[in-house]
Amino acid sequence: GKGAAMVTAWAYRLADQTRQIEETLDQFRLSKVQLLEVKKRMRVEMDIGLGKDTQDKATVKMLPTYVRQTPDGTENGDFLALDLGGTNFRVLLVKIRSGKRRTVEMHNKIYAIPHEIMQGTGEELFDHIVHCISDFLDYMGMKNARLPLGFTFSFPCQQTSLDAGILVTWTKGFKATDCEGEDVVGLLREGIKRREEFDLDVVAIVNDTVGTMMTCAYEEPTCEVGLIAGTGSNACYMEETRNIDLVEGDEGKMCINMEWGAFGDNGCLDDIRTEYDKAVDELSLNPGKQRYEKMCSGMYLGEIVRNILIDLTKRGFLFRGQISETLKTRGIFETKFLSQIESDRLALLQVRSILQHLGLDSTCDDSIIVKEVCGTVSRRAAQICGAGMAAVVDKIRENRGLDHLNVTVGVDGTLYKLHPHFSRIMHQTVKELAPKCNVTFLLSEDGSGKGAALITAVGCRLREQEKQ
Ligand code: GLC
Repeated sequence: GKGAAMVTAWAYRLADQTRQIEETLDQFRLSKVQLLEVKKRMRVEMDIGLGKDTQDKATVKMLPTYVRQTPDGTENGDFLALDLGGTNFRVLLVKIRSGKRRTVEMHNKIYAIPHEIMQGTGEELFDHIVHCISDFLDYMGMKNARLPLGFTFSFPCQQTSLDAGILVTWTKGFKATDCEGEDVVGLLREGIKRREEFDLDVVAIVNDTVGTMMTCAYEEPTCEVGLIAGTGSNACYMEETRNIDLVEGDEGKMCINMEWGAFGDNGCLDDIRTEYDKAVDELSLNPGKQRYEKMCSGMYLGEIVRNILIDLTKRGFLFRGQISETLKTRGIFETKFLSQIESDRLALLQVRSILQHLGLDSTCDDSIIVKEVCGTVSRRAAQICGAGMAAVVDKIRENRGLDHLNVTVGVDGTLYKLHPHFSRIMHQTVKELAPKCNVTFLLSEDGSGKGAALITAVGCRLREQEKQ
């Protein structure tokens, strides 16, 4: 009868809707062949970044860091460290003691950097940073010490020495004027001078990946790679100097800050980028840039999810077809919410209450779909991050002419630490795509602060040696 026909029509519509949602999400599901292709392309871009004649036009910049060795335990002294570019801005005092019982003691304070300052003028930004240092020195009672300082500045910098770095381009949420093309250490020193209150000895500028690698290498000498999976995404590793055309000499190694977030900016990932990735890119502060980072880091995953949800809502598959103001708000799905939504310990009812908390009225069916969208987007992120890492460890293996390599990767970042599945899927992917490498991942405890201090300690030692 008529009732049965209606039920059939409803069942058809439901099946069709499920199929359409799956088709949408299928674009994010990469096969092993596709992931191997990502690995291969990363390797191509790495070689372009290292080559003298190609490096100019490289998207993966492979920046020399002038860090030539990992710590050896003889580092000693009191250091100030700054950490700018992650989730928080921090000032730290790090006390390193060498000898039989090596110890590292840290004191730190977190400071907010208001949006207006992140996107204001460079002078305002550096005045604010120096203001925070001043507050910290008062707090610690150390205004007169002229401490050596390591500046963890987590953006691409073209370095010519340990203590000089020209900002290539802002990434993530920063966009202060008059900084790109300038030496960041100079900007900091000028800021300190303007304030006329205290003096500091800026010894090193450090990328967070490098700080993370150094911190882990302090405990574990096989650590020669650093990885950040947080607000942004990036890696560094120890490369043979002979392979780095930009740096003179053929002896030994140097740490390379890959700036792999820019992978794909030449279009080489276009076949796997979806319309949602493109939308996220176009609405960002830096359209066309950091395309790989926009597919796999914490600052953007939630945005990809939000763009998919908007589309599914428009097509009538979610939220009763109603696009709320909340859903139109950029940045609502922070890493911590995605992590909660995807936690297996959470019942669907709790997923609904998280969505409710964000201001999204959901039905039970909605919450199932939202959870699936989140899971699909973060799985792809972990997989492509793993594909990049597979390229790195395999290159280190080839550099040494080995059939098999054991290596440790120091890791930090909110996505890696907070997300319930990211780390596991990333590890699994590296294993599958680089079967000749046995990779151990070591979580770095406060890599940015401790690592900057360790690098500063090495820098001070080298400076003393040069004087003699
Ligand atoms: C961005 C920065 C890079 C940093 C990464 C992780 O990709 O450009 O320098 O290492 O974020 O914070």
